[in-house]
Amino acid sequence: MPTACWTCKSPDVPRMIEEDGEKEFFTGKWAKYGDEIVNSIGCADCHNNETMELLVRRPYLDRALKAAGLPTFAESSHQEKRNLVCAQCHVEYYFKATPWKDSQGNDKVAKVVTLPWANGLSVEAMEKYYNDLQFKDWEHKLSKTKMLKAQHPGYEIFKTGIHGQKGVSCADCHMPYTQEGAVKYSDHQLQSPLKTMDRSCMPCHRESESKLRDIVQQKLMRKNFLMQIAMDNLAKAHLETAKAMEVGATDEDLKKVREHIRNGQWRWDYSIASHGSFFHAPEETLRILGTANDQAQQARIKLVSILAKRGVMDYVAPDFSNKAKSQELAGVPLQKLVDEKMKFKATLEKEWHKQAVAAGKLNMSSRKNVDLESSYFNNRGK
Ligand code: HEC
Ligand code: HEC
Ligand code: HEC
Ligand code: HEC
Repeated sequence: MPTACWTCKSPDVPRMIEEDGEKEFFTGKWAKYGDEIVNSIGCADCHNNETMELLVRRPYLDRALKAAGLPTFAESSHQEKRNLVCAQCHVEYYFKATPWKDSQGNDKVAKVVTLPWANGLSVEAMEKYYNDLQFKDWEHKLSKTKMLKAQHPGYEIFKTGIHGQKGVSCADCHMPYTQEGAVKYSDHQLQSPLKTMDRSCMPCHRESESKLRDIVQQKLMRKNFLMQIAMDNLAKAHLETAKAMEVGATDEDLKKVREHIRNGQWRWDYSIASHGSFFHAPEETLRILGTANDQAQQARIKLVSILAKRGVMDYVAPDFSNKAKSQELAGVPLQKLVDEKMKFKATLEKEWHKQAVAAGKLNMSSRKNVDLESSYFNNRGK
């Protein structure tokens, strides 16, 4: 993995960008900073650590705002800054290959985190951005489609929803004001606002908490309903394309099919990888899922005739109804990957940790229970 993978993980990232320069930071492999980037997200990610003013120290955000014709962080209103500190990380991005020369004149290539906002912040605008570049994150093993991986366009989708449009900011719900005696402060335990509805929702809403919670639950169910349909059609389109290849369909025959699969999967991924989108912007999320499903269906209609021309009628894709079956079909060597990760955690990660402690770079209190809380351990019951 490239160094860019550290970007949204730690306040050590802006520190290293400032120490080494942005181009150097984004050059090379992730392991280069293993003993430097050790603290979990903290004050210096969002604040000037002397004045405590809100501050953004990841230069790609301002570049993206400018490319989109939007005000930079410094030019934005205070309320918008309460969104933009989150938009350092909760956004769609890719790693843009950027050639540069170091001080000795050596040619290098940086993989610079870049937000694809130059055509606008909608799913279609970003799709066009990536398609014009012919950018691909990976090639699908079964259908040989050049795929896009959506990251987590939380900020972009949020801005299309009713709260975003009415000027409510991320911090209003996720960092609600809390009163303790005479002191009023913003709750810094970022979590689901459904755990703090009295402080997160009730200052603005008159319904009962339970009624509001039921409304949120309905939104989640509606999203899941359409998401399942779109995922099912996308997965079948991949498997049917693989079948078409097996019986002799050419890349030319499959060109349009693969375009539909690429765009459809991008849209599906975009709408659901954006955490909380079902609530932040329910109409937009369902609209995107609807067009994702449409793209998948268009691919499958074309596949029916491609398969029929080669004598394959009524083909039924193999069963992919659970994770294990899907991973087997897709050829994911799961046990090997788990073994590698456990080995890393038992060896190199421990070494980095020791070096960081020796160099006085680690805020020990921020690491308490970090491993135990990760979903990786929870899912495995360890
Ligand atoms: C993810 C971003 C983020 C991180 C990390 C973060 N803060 Fe904040 N902080 C905010 C936001 C947003 C506000 C609200 C600012 C406002 O409206 O003026 C805030 C407000 C504050 C305030 C003003 C009083 C208040 O509570 O509203 C203080 C002081 C503060 N933070 C201290 C800290 C300290 C100390 C840390 C590290 C332990 C920290 N913050 C980490 C985003 C963050
Ligand atoms: C420096 C990058 C960064 C910034 C800035 C940031 N986040 Fe996050 N956020 C993350 C990462 C990474 C995770 C996932 C953590 C994990 O899965 O363990 C996360 C997780 C979350 C979660 C889920 C927490 C949970 O209980 O699982 C919420 C909610 C959240 N962020 C909201 C916000 C809001 C609101 C802001 C702005 C005030 C913000 N984040 C700023 C990187 C960031
Ligand atoms: C009007 C209140 C509100 C605002 C404003 C808001 N959110 Fe949320 N957010 C929610 C709710 C409600 C959920 C769903 C929580 C759940 O399902 O438990 C959520 C979910 C999330 C999650 C997933 C949390 C999890 O536990 O899985 C993240 C991350 C997140 N929001 C980030 C943001 C960011 C970033 C912004 C601003 C761009 C923002 N939110 C603005 C209410 C809000
Ligand atoms: C800062 C004020 C504010 C906060 C905080 C807030 N809301 Fe809202 N909410 C609004 C506004 C404004 C609207 C738009 C409707 C209107 O103008 O009455 C709205 C609309 C809604 C709607 C109806 C629109 C839709 O998408 O269906 C729901 C549901 C909702 N809010 C739930 C919540 C929940 C749940 C929370 C807490 C997690 C929350 N709100 C926090 C101001 C707020």
